[in-house]
Amino acid sequence: MSSPPPQPAADPPVIDLPLPPPGTMGPPTQYGWLRRECPLAEVRLPIGATAWYATRYEDVRDLIADPRLIRPTINDWPPRPDRAADDDRGLITMMELNGPRHEALRRALAEPFSVRSVRRRLPRLRRSADELLDDFTAAGQPGDLVGGFLEPFPLLAMCELVGIPYEDREYFLPRADAALGAMVTLDEGREVTSELREYIASLLDRKRREPADDVLTGLVHACGSGTLDGESVVNFGLSMLVAGYRTSTMFLADAVVTLLTAPDRYARLRDDRGLLPGAVEELLRYIPVMNGVVVLQAVEDIELHDRRIRAGDAVLPVLASANRDERVFADADRLDLCRAENPHLTFGRGAHNCIGAHLARAQMTVGLEALLDRFPRLHRADGQEPAWDDGSPSKSPLTLPVSWHVTTAAAQGGGDPPERPRSRRPPPP
Ligand code: HEM
Repeated sequence: MSSPPPQPAADPPVIDLPLPPPGTMGPPTQYGWLRRECPLAEVRLPIGATAWYATRYEDVRDLIADPRLIRPTINDWPPRPDRAADDDRGLITMMELNGPRHEALRRALAEPFSVRSVRRRLPRLRRSADELLDDFTAAGQPGDLVGGFLEPFPLLAMCELVGIPYEDREYFLPRADAALGAMVTLDEGREVTSELREYIASLLDRKRREPADDVLTGLVHACGSGTLDGESVVNFGLSMLVAGYRTSTMFLADAVVTLLTAPDRYARLRDDRGLLPGAVEELLRYIPVMNGVVVLQAVEDIELHDRRIRAGDAVLPVLASANRDERVFADADRLDLCRAENPHLTFGRGAHNCIGAHLARAQMTVGLEALLDRFPRLHRADGQEPAWDDGSPSKSPLTLPVSWHVTTAAAQGGGDPPERPRSRRPPPP
């Protein structure tokens, strides 16, 4: 008797979106198993829709640069059957632009976001960090380092480079948060979206009247000379409000938690500043903030690992999992401040890769260096745990209570006495 024909293997079940364990930055415990056993998993998102969750390095590297995948508009996800064709699509940022308009914007932004331009701004960046730390120190210890430094510093750095008034933050921050929240709750945020657009449009008017040395003034000028259209500049401004500082804040806060969790890490960097550039790259690899935060949508069918991603499906290339792939990184779950080969994917790849990567690196380097100089013996405050938002796939501490050792001399000056002269060497971005 012949044996029955082999049955096709059943599709693996849909799983919930992997989240970091409570009270930690992560990564989710499922990464290793998924990379080994189910590299393209179907996950259920908190909004109810499903998405493909790709976890292996080579898949993530290819998917994020694949032109068959586009970035859906954040107010338009998941696509709704009841949405009219002429419906207001709400907030459109640079990520959702494609083709010639996107290319023109990238060209206009290449110089102001270049290594050279960021390097020129390093002294100003360091001054901003020191001024924020002056206020933080003056408020006494223990203090919340997130609210006092790790959150305001990347925001201030972005505002200064781009030309968004930092003092307007109480207006735009809650609205930007609400617009991002609309990504989850869909119908919300329409009003804040139009308020943010009006805010950027009025800012651009101001730049026309009062030009300054900043990115928005440069873009307004490019509009005047016909190389850019005005709507693209508004799209860029909106990108800055929703994506120009939050990720940097999260990485910086997680970096400090990571360094303070094992005391020798902080001390090693304090005593050997030459390690800092490589350590920043390793922290960017190791910190798992980019857990399914890049959302793509297929515009045609794609076959991968014997499964079919259909046109219209959502795809999450999980950068944080790719960065822990043991096929590429030796001892991938270990933080190695001296790691030599580090081709991490934290800033993405392809046409939409992160335009702010040099700025983000500089913020992290300068921010850490300012802390190491100011507080040679920084530590987590006794008996006070950081607070975490455990419902989120992408986590950094909401608060981080810290103390610093005070000697008599430092008590007069407000901080720790520096144990070594302050480094004058500008850190490479
Ligand atoms: C550690 C901090 C940061 C990380 C990890 C990060 C990561 C990323 C990633 C992965 C992308 C690609 C998204 C995709 O493919 O759809 C991206 C795009 C982008 N990022 Fe960042 N980013 C950071 C900081 C910044 C900063 C500081 C700015 C600007 C001030 C910035 C501006 C942008 C813009 C404008 C895009 C869209 C580029 C385009 O669509 O052409 N980012 N970022």
